[in-house]
Amino acid sequence: MAKIRKAVIPAAGLGTRFLPATKAVPKELLPIVDTPSIQYIVQEVVDADIHTVILISGRGKSSIVDHFDVSPELEEKLLREGKHELAERLRSARSMATIVSVRQGEPRGLGHAVLRAKDLVGNEPFVVLLGDDLVDADIPCTKQMADVYEKYGKSVCAVMEVPDEDVSRFGIISGEKIDADCVEIDQMVEKPALSEAPSNLAIVGRYILTPRIFELLEKTDPGKGGEIQLTDAMALLMKEEGFIGYKFKGDRYDAGDQFGYLQANIAYGLKRKNLAPRLLEYMKEMIKKHS
Ligand code: G1P
Repeated sequence: MAKIRKAVIPAAGLGTRFLPATKAVPKELLPIVDTPSIQYIVQEVVDADIHTVILISGRGKSSIVDHFDVSPELEEKLLREGKHELAERLRSARSMATIVSVRQGEPRGLGHAVLRAKDLVGNEPFVVLLGDDLVDADIPCTKQMADVYEKYGKSVCAVMEVPDEDVSRFGIISGEKIDADCVEIDQMVEKPALSEAPSNLAIVGRYILTPRIFELLEKTDPGKGGEIQLTDAMALLMKEEGFIGYKFKGDRYDAGDQFGYLQANIAYGLKRKNLAPRLLEYMKEMIKKHS
């Protein structure tokens, strides 16, 4: 089976939920503690032994590519000042992966964004990671999914159960359980009303797709919200080739939402030894003060 060698990261969104912060700074560069959210995503890709990243970008997003570029003056300055660890962190961020960027042009939806990667991906399976979805896991979510892809030889999307009130914010699937963590999907609907949802299993922003998706995306008409939806093309792919829903292991944060962004900062902050004790103490104080 073909190895997954390429990752597509759509990053053309305007980030209106984070205005005014995102007026001049791409939302993908907003930090979780001290690291831009997109760097966690690229790290996940690299940890799954994938080293080519295709970034679907847009106007005002060039600084994302700059972030992964070399910065000799800065690195030399840090080394001169004896800040070796920080210099090394900068060096490792820039040598993580080969980043190729293509512009989306008109913003016509997630499906349209992914289709822009067609020529760069070619005729091989690939992974799509949505920058808003951070997954903190012992085994990187992308690696978990690559193993599922290898086992079943079908496209895979990550899924998780969500409460009724959140159903209409996600692509929703249903299917038949085929092992402890996987379902063979039989329905996929983009952001259904609760009354029309086939289950509570929501698609999280991680997909392994076979290249057939590109031809199907070319035939996909605008759907929900007047946009070309990846979920609609995936539903066609499911009928032709089968599609696995995988209940990933790990904690998912919606860094594209203000509350989720704060949660991610707290959770990732608590993973830092130099911050965790003070942060916990502060949270206890805040609970007292506000209860
Ligand atoms: C996108 C997808 C949706 C999926 C979600 C996961 O929606 O269209 O199917 O459930 O990502 O985060 P968005 O949140 O970009 O509107």
